[in-house]
Order: sequence, then C-alpha cells, then structure tokens
Amino acid sequence: MCGIVGYIGKGCAKDVVLDGLGKLEYRGYDSAGIALLDKGRLAVEKIAEIQDESNKSKISKLQDLLKEKYSDANVAIGHTRWATHGTPSVLNAHPHVSNDGMIAVVHNGIVENYSELKEMLLKKHNIRCKSETDSEVIAQLLSVFCADGLDLVDAMLKATGMMKGAYAIGAIYKNDENKIVGYRKDAPLIACHTDEGTFIASDMTALLKHSKDVYFLDDDELVVCKADSMQILNRNKEVVEKEIFHIDWNIETAEKGGYDHFMLKEIHDQPDVLEDTLSRRLDSNGRINLDGISLTLDDLNKIKKIYIVACGTAYHAGLVGKTLIEKWAKIPVEVDVASEFRYRDPLVDENTLFIAVTQSGETLDTLMALREAKKKGARVLSIVNVVGSSIARESDDVFYTWAGPEIAVASTKGYTTQLMCLYLIALYMGRLKETISAETEKKVLEELKSVPSKVSGLLKNEGKIEELAKKIYEKRSIFYIGRGLDANVALEGSLKLKEISYINSFAIAAGELKHGTIALMDEDTIVFALATQDELAEKMLSNIVEVSARDAYVVSITKEKNDFFKDASEMVLFIPECIDEVTPLLSIVLLQLIAYFVAKERGENIDMPRNLAKSVTVE
Ligand code: F6R
Repeated sequence: MCGIVGYIGKGCAKDVVLDGLGKLEYRGYDSAGIALLDKGRLAVEKIAEIQDESNKSKISKLQDLLKEKYSDANVAIGHTRWATHGTPSVLNAHPHVSNDGMIAVVHNGIVENYSELKEMLLKKHNIRCKSETDSEVIAQLLSVFCADGLDLVDAMLKATGMMKGAYAIGAIYKNDENKIVGYRKDAPLIACHTDEGTFIASDMTALLKHSKDVYFLDDDELVVCKADSMQILNRNKEVVEKEIFHIDWNIETAEKGGYDHFMLKEIHDQPDVLEDTLSRRLDSNGRINLDGISLTLDDLNKIKKIYIVACGTAYHAGLVGKTLIEKWAKIPVEVDVASEFRYRDPLVDENTLFIAVTQSGETLDTLMALREAKKKGARVLSIVNVVGSSIARESDDVFYTWAGPEIAVASTKGYTTQLMCLYLIALYMGRLKETISAETEKKVLEELKSVPSKVSGLLKNEGKIEELAKKIYEKRSIFYIGRGLDANVALEGSLKLKEISYINSFAIAAGELKHGTIALMDEDTIVFALATQDELAEKMLSNIVEVSARDAYVVSITKEKNDFFKDASEMVLFIPECIDEVTPLLSIVLLQLIAYFVAKERGENIDMPRNLAKSVTVE
C-alpha cells in the first residue's frame, strides 16, 4: 500500500529515489521520506500531511526540502506512506531511524507482533520506540544486533526471524556505506542491477526508467545491493539463482499523457488495451489460444466446481465471470470476497478450480485465499495484470490482462480487461467441453472484436455526462439498479462513484427494490437504471416506473434500439447494439465517466481518493 524505493550506485541517490517515489505516490500518500548515507552521516528528511494552498504533492515538497542538499550521496532509501499504525505525521513517516542513529528502515506491510517486540526492546535493551508505528521496531532491532557485532545481513536475518506478519523492508547502516539490504515476506519487493547501480522498489513503475529486466524476491529472501553488484540470498545465506522478468511496459504508459487525471487517461486507454488483451489470445485462425495455459478436456472434466475469488472491483468482474462460465461451460461457479473465503472453511478439494482475479497481483486477502485453496488441493488459475507479481508466481496458470500500468486508485481498464479474460476463459471452456456450438463461439468472438471500437464511440458521450454531473454532483445518495449482468455492473458503477466522489451510493438488483430499499426513494434520489438485457428490459421498465413514481430522478442506460426508455426516464444514455452477454464491457464505460465527472465537479482528488491506496497489501 505504501511505496519503497532504494538506490546505491554512481548516480545521485537523492534524485533516483525521489523520482521513483514520485512514480509510487499513488500507492500511499499521507507522508513521505528519504534516508541517505552522506559522507559518514545518516541523514533523514520527511514530510507529512500539511494542508496548504500550494496543492503540491508530498514528493514535490520533499524535493523542495532537499533542493540544495545531499547531491553527492550515492546511497538512499525512500518511502511513501499510507498510514496503518499511527496517524499520518512526520514522527510516524518512514524511514524510521534507530535511537542510536545508526540504522534507517523503510517498510511496507505489518509487523503483527510489534507490541511484543517493543516491550522486549524496552525491557531487555532499554530502547523506547518513539513513533506509534509497527515499523520502527525493525530499525531498533537491527541497531541492537549491529551493535552486538552482526553485519546488516545477519542482523536482518535475526530481526526477521523474530517478526511475524507481512513485510518488504529496505535498510541502511551508517557504518556500512556500501550496501542496502532488502527483505521480503508476503509483500512485494523487486530488485534490478544496471551499469548505474542497484535498485529496489515495491512496484515496477518506480524502476521502469532504469530497467525492464527485474527480479522479484520470493518470501524469506534477502537482497544485498551494492553499487557494482546485487545478490539475492535465502535465509541460509545461499545465493538464489532467479529468473529475470522482462516487463513490457513503456514509461509513457505510466504517465498522464496530457489528460487531467490518470483515471481519465486509463478510461481512454480501454479501446487499445481491450484490443491487446483479446488479440494476444487469438491464433491465426481467429480461435482462442490460452497461450501456455494447459487446461485440457481431461482437466476440465475433473473440475466439479469453480471458485472465483477477489476483492473490490476484481470481485465485481468475477460476478460477471460466474454468469459467463455457468452459461457457456456449464460448470457451477461460486464467487467469493477473498477476505471472507479464507475464514469460512470453503468446500475446496482437488476437483476445484480456483480463479483469483487481481490487477496488482499483490492483494494480501486474495493471496492468502489462494494459498488456502492450494492447501486444500485446488488448481489455481489467476487473472493478473502485473507480470511477476506474487499471485502470478504462486498460481499454476496465469492469464495476464495486459492492461499496462494502472495508476489511478479507482480501477477502470483493470476491470474491463479482467472481464475480457473471463469471456475468453468461459468461451474456451465451453468449446473444449462442447457445451457451446462453434457458431456461438464465433459469434461471441465477433462481438468481442467489435468492443474496442464501440468503447471508443461511448467515450464521445463525455460532454453529455459532464453536463449530467453538473446536475447531480451535490446529491447525497445515488442508486444503481439492474437485473442479471446489469446488477453486477451496477455494483461496480456504484463503487467507482463512492470511492472518488464520497457520495453515499448503493447498488441493488432491481427486483429487490420492492423488498425494502424502495422506501429510500424520494425527490432527492438519483437512480442509474441499467437495462441492457433484452429479456429483462420490460421488467426493468417496470422498476424504473416504480422509482419514478416516488419522484426519483432516473437516468437509464440501455441499447440504442430501446428508445421507449425515454418516456420513463429523465435521461437515457445508450450503448451500441450487441449481444446481451457483452454489455458489461460497454455500460461500465459510461458509469466510469459518470463517477469521474461527478468527482471532478466536486473538486475531489480523483487519482488519490482519501483513505484508499492502490494495492492493498494488508489484511
Ligand atoms: C476499486 C479498486 C479496488 C481493487 C481491489 C482489488 O477501484 O481498485 O476495489 O479492485 O482492492 O485489487 P487487485 O485487483 O489489485 O487485487
């Protein structure tokens, strides 16, 4: 959730680390800091939440603070923080420094037994932690062990041996200007080495500028970074030979490219990335090719049940996936929120296929659910965006979404590319099991191929949606209703709105309204009614009439042919003609734009909404 960057090499460490932190600011942003080794001195500078009129990011403020300083330092570690333990403040910001001023540490994740360790440090070593964080204990432990004569590597092994929880750590030691030591357990840490030096980071986007060939540390691995070398070691200090991952992302894809916000840029990226996701999976005969995923008919026949497990937006994609797989492959599917799956002793065995859906590939709830399913014997297929991420590496098969870096906290292209993968998986399974005909497969594929250009067409509604946003941005409650696949998309549309506009928004299956929720409808209510499913259009019309009769302001979203929705709604937004199954890929684009323009009208910080972080690596 937070971001880590470290650098040791020929270049100016301050510049490398601050530039990297700038790329990671979207991961966590209530405070930031840097520690440098500068001619025998351990220097630390931090900045925390300060409301002022400059509207500058924490990293730019940190840059200002460091302007004239530390230009000769060649070793630095830095951090952007999303507070978990303790308020956002300079004291709680990283890097944390040991009381003897010898060690500085940056940390992502949680040290679960930090209270115990704090107590031990006080009782045994008379060391009192200064901050409210769990992370500070790491710096204090390292300093105790280094004072006892261990070098930083041994001290790190000893400290992590005492810690429980999930952590990616970067540490420097005043008495050893030649190294940065990194450690990973259940939180991502990436390293690379070039002629310029050695780099570590929690996220690929911080390293793209320096190298696209990186190493992903596995759990309980340690990286020793020196200016002219890099070594990854296991807990027995044996060198681990690791695979290099080549990351096929351009640096430009991690930049705004002229748009006001990353979110708007990523909404506009969708035609291209959807095309990419699809075309990478079609062979020269236009048939689906799962590219390295060995799912044979025998395998499929053994699968009695599929679990799709994910969080937030990815969970919403999973809901659509359930309908598609059950319809086309005739395999029963359960969709579960990862944080619930893990603790409810789910009925999983070797005849279960577990599908994890995740943009970051690092969401701890999803990772833990995956491990639980594996323990029970399930085969794991994951739908992941970030190549080489933890979930990708722990899965039996990976279906990459190829969305490119998603920077805005609110997921947009992440969601639609996950959907595209689920269409392809469901169709492929149906073809193999012969539960769909060759004509159906062909027809759906033709429809999917037309999606990118239809999405481009939908983006032309921006002006209309901006006008609508001006009318509704001050409302206090907004509902999303739909039936069938539309009910799934309603959930996603509502989540988009609440996370960036902070308007209380609620999604419900339209047929459920009359069982209670309709009591909330009045002249102050806005209802987005999704009515894209042909068979359910009339039923939706009745629901729209019901809420209109309670004076709600209804905006319907339906297919172009359904002109008759105009009479029952204040406004209608149309999606192009298509088969019912693929409407989620289109209607969501309108809902993404609605959320974006409402938040913009309200003046909110769209790419970095309050209280949220991009990658949730805590439970
Ligand atoms: C919402 C959003 C989150 C994520 C969720 C899972 O816009 O982005 O709900 O979808 O935290 O994240 P991943 O997909 O990285 O596992």
